[in-house]
Amino acid sequence: MSGRPTPAEGALLLRQRLEMGASEIFLDGLTRAQALALIAEARPGDAAAPADARAEARRDAERTATGDTELTSTGDAERTATGDAQRTAKHDVEPASKAGAKPDTKPNAVPLPVLPDSYDELREVALSCNRCRLSTNRTQVVFSDGPADARLMVVGEAPGANEDQSGLPFVGAAGKYLDLLLATVGLGREDSVYIANVIKCRPPGNRDPKDDEIEACSPYLRKQIELVRPEALLAVGSFSGKLLTGRGDTTLGALRGKVHHYHGVPLVVTYHPAALLRNSRWTRHFWDDLQLLRGVLGEP
Ligand code: URA
Repeated sequence: MSGRPTPAEGALLLRQRLEMGASEIFLDGLTRAQALALIAEARPGDAAAPADARAEARRDAERTATGDTELTSTGDAERTATGDAQRTAKHDVEPASKAGAKPDTKPNAVPLPVLPDSYDELREVALSCNRCRLSTNRTQVVFSDGPADARLMVVGEAPGANEDQSGLPFVGAAGKYLDLLLATVGLGREDSVYIANVIKCRPPGNRDPKDDEIEACSPYLRKQIELVRPEALLAVGSFSGKLLTGRGDTTLGALRGKVHHYHGVPLVVTYHPAALLRNSRWTRHFWDDLQLLRGVLGEP
């Protein structure tokens, strides 16, 4: 391969490395900055600069806080490394109070309307939702991306700054890496994957979602799953993994590596892609989980 590989070549290269059983996985011959630049190009029409991609990776890393610290299967060294990454990420994120955000004190008092059985109506209700305090500071509600008849539904945590601006989930560096990894198992984001988050509005300063916010917002996600009826679910990160398995008492490490079921739909839980950008060794586990998913989905 001469020069910088295209996104398609990058996906092929990554798949070959993974299939050969490499444990240290990153895009061969590329520095981290080059790999992020490649990932930034993975979505057509998106011209994010490498520096922006790196900054977004740091912001996204905060989104993974709970998942990263619960890696029971990966040992203390990784937990320590992740702790450092988290501290760096927290440092990089402008505190909500300094970012001009309104105080984060509004109670979650607004009752949930009966959610419609029509997908379009559900979306309309969600887009004007003010059930919780997160509605106060949002730019846009981030409802979903991808076709509502997709075979796979990916469930993330909550929007970050890019998603809040664009109204679409997973458009930052973590999203581009997710696209690349899904492409290695033949799942193109544009035609086969529907993506949504547990939380539809950005938490100020990218803080973790609070329990009452998850309680207020998750009925939308549950209704989305009911209406989209995907063949399989992929929960990335511990917030979606715990919610969909109903196992708030356990760790991401304990939930990954097996097939669960959510109301009869096969469910695989794995790491958040932002965690993989912080620590490429976890890409091996993510890949193993994608193989489980591929087994569940079978042939197109
Ligand atoms: N992280 C998430 O969990 N969801 C997004 O939409 C973006 C980053």
